Amino acid sequence: MNILAIESSCDETAAAIITGDPFASNSNSDTKKPQILSNIVVSQIDIFKAYGGVIPEVAARSHLEAILPVIHQAFRDAGFTKSNANSSSYSDDWSKIDAIAVTHTPGLLGSLLIGTLTARTLAILHGKPLYAIHHLKSHIYANWLNAENTPSFPLLALVISGGHTQIIRMTAHNNFEIIGTTLDDAVGECFDKVAKILGLPYPGGPSIANCAKKGDSQKYHLPIPNIKELDFSFSGLKTAVLRAVQKEVGVPISYPSHQLANLLTDQQKSDFAASFEKTATDILLKKLEKALATYPDTKSIVIAGGVSANQNLRASTVKKFNSPTDPTIFFPELKFSGDNAAMVGAAAFFEIKTKTEPTDPYSLNIFPRSDIQ
Ligand code: KG4
Ligand code: ZN
Repeated sequence: MNILAIESSCDETAAAIITGDPFASNSNSDTKKPQILSNIVVSQIDIFKAYGGVIPEVAARSHLEAILPVIHQAFRDAGFTKSNANSSSYSDDWSKIDAIAVTHTPGLLGSLLIGTLTARTLAILHGKPLYAIHHLKSHIYANWLNAENTPSFPLLALVISGGHTQIIRMTAHNNFEIIGTTLDDAVGECFDKVAKILGLPYPGGPSIANCAKKGDSQKYHLPIPNIKELDFSFSGLKTAVLRAVQKEVGVPISYPSHQLANLLTDQQKSDFAASFEKTATDILLKKLEKALATYPDTKSIVIAGGVSANQNLRASTVKKFNSPTDPTIFFPELKFSGDNAAMVGAAAFFEIKTKTEPTDPYSLNIFPRSDIQ
């Protein structure tokens, strides 16, 4: 089975073609997992660097320009093209495609509209079943694209992205229970906002990670919030960094925050970045530890979403859960930690495996609910 997957929830326009047999017996290891035939990602990062963040209207326009060429390139890379009679051009061979998958929520409205309307139109035009995929589900399923092992159930997924911070328990494919969530900001959003305070370029996560390399993570003490159960809060950490920077450079809290970075030395920026990165990691891993104590039958820990690219977090996770009785830890390959369409195809593969009905392309609602389902 070949699945064309499309992703356009934020500022990456992506298409991929995934192949495999969702109904293969367990012994058939070559086809029982989704395999990637092509994976195209066009990022708008260079556009938004100049603005210091994503401008939704501009993102939607960029998706509109990129989406058809990106899909066409995915067909070409997969070798799914046929030459046109009497011309040297090639067209997409739709006879090779069995299903279409698209991110339908959550994300930026204009961005989602471009991807979903494209997918709906193509599904109707070519008579293919359409699978509407929740974005966080895709981030989790990025861990099934790993060349080696795949996670086992029951598992705990720590989903850490620009818009979400959740711990999700899965007891089987396509079975999701949110057991913890942020009460305010997402951790990725916090990385982005702290980067702004420190005057580091967009996107903030990689900038903080880079700047932190030369920093002392013990230099500034930042508080770990005391939030009930398995929930998170990150807005206090962002404010704590702001207050600590104001104190360090000796200005009142009314001082314009966008001018603070000019008063910091490079070493101070690195020390703040390292202290923040360590505290954010500690907050996440403490909750994960608590979740594991609550669910001792957990066999795998799955880290998912853009923040999972963070090397410090990866190293600290492996260090913390390193006893032989701890669950096996999975991270997506770095190229699949941020937004991409291969993970959307992987999520669709497992929807098909669990016999989820396709969506009616004539009535796809892009905001049915924002929780994973
Ligand atoms: O999953 P993603 O690509 O998009 C959403 O679904 O939100 O996540 C984007 C987030 C941004 O906040 C970005 O700053 C963060 O992931 N991020 C990182 C790193 N790379 C990306 N955060 C920390 N360290 C990184 N290396
Ligand atoms: Zn994402």
